[in-house]
Amino acid sequence: MLLSSKIISNFTLTLLHDEILNTGIKITTLSHRGEYSAFSRHNPPTRKVYTLKSRDAIVENKGAKFKFHTKDVIKKWKKEFVKADLSEPKLSIENIIASILQTRQISDIYKKKNSFLSREQIKKVIKMCRMRLESMPIQYVIREWDFRNLTLEMRPPVFIPRPETEQLVDLVLTELNTNPIEEVLELCCGSGAISIALLKENPDITVIAVDKSEEACSLTRDNAKRYGIDSRINIIQMDINEISPEYFDKKFDVIVSNPPYVPSGDMLHLQPEILGYEDRDALDGGSDGLVLIKLILQKSSYLLRPGGKTFLEVDPSHPQLLDRLLEENNRLRLSIGGVHKDIFERDRFVIIKKML
Ligand SMILES: C[S@@+](CC[C@H](N)C(=O)[O-])C[C@H]1O[C@@H](n2cnc3c(N)ncnc32)[C@H](O)[C@@H]1O
Repeated sequence: MLLSSKIISNFTLTLLHDEILNTGIKITTLSHRGEYSAFSRHNPPTRKVYTLKSRDAIVENKGAKFKFHTKDVIKKWKKEFVKADLSEPKLSIENIIASILQTRQISDIYKKKNSFLSREQIKKVIKMCRMRLESMPIQYVIREWDFRNLTLEMRPPVFIPRPETEQLVDLVLTELNTNPIEEVLELCCGSGAISIALLKENPDITVIAVDKSEEACSLTRDNAKRYGIDSRINIIQMDINEISPEYFDKKFDVIVSNPPYVPSGDMLHLQPEILGYEDRDALDGGSDGLVLIKLILQKSSYLLRPGGKTFLEVDPSHPQLLDRLLEENNRLRLSIGGVHKDIFERDRFVIIKKML
């Protein structure tokens, strides 16, 4: 049965159009009888009339006839992303192609820049590029991201681990090397990035990871399985608010957390990628960004052993405020044990110590 142009959906037409652009073929007409003619930009140009029987049939016809190079696909989509004013246009398409070619090394895709992508691969590229054009973060588009030496699964709306948090892991690992312990408590585990990195890099510990979000806990579980360390992690879905002094039948030497700490007023200035897709509860730390941090301090005061430490990632405005806050609340018996800078020389990591 022939399809008339009326019953071909916009989606189908766009798909065709994109695929055709990618193959160097341009649609010139689309008749009411469901025919379109196309000519190739290749030398010598050829012109052919296709009959639209179904969407699959079109793709079938075309895919069998036209090939396209990896480098051309990169060029075309980089241009589209620039036009759409997306951040990191080149890196976006490079990551998409890398994902299609099942590598995390961007350099690998340039080794294959003159290879042809298959019809199936091109369909996947188009689908992913469309998602990116909707401002979806590239990490959600390709469904994974790197953290230290791990490649973790990513699923919206779970918070995407940021590179600076790798430094927080360094601080905890240094502490574990200096003062070996058996168990670490992570509050606000998200995708599990911190816990899994600690477990991978220190085979002697176990971790309790807490997050209130079901999606986050499920992703932490899947990522732990991915690295075969699921027997050493206890994932608990709960709100930190609910952790009573008796909740754990033990105290901890090390607590680590990258909590939501963005002051609410700064939320509006975040990129559309973040605002549109990442869980707001993973970011918004209330008017001064300190709501969750204060809660973690309160919990640390009874969850830490004397001499134990809580390692926190914070906003650069926080270390000074925290110093004052702990002085004013000396009943918590906590003090600042150290402030560390990120690679941009901003105060981003605070170590809180429980007094002896
Ligand atoms: C900034 S993300 C950190 C995720 C991960 N640790 C990382 O560094 O990539 C903060 C996490 O805190 C969780 N969260 C926010 N409020 C919470 C609460 N009251 N209790 C437990 N988890 C909470 C969110 O669900 C989110 O996963």
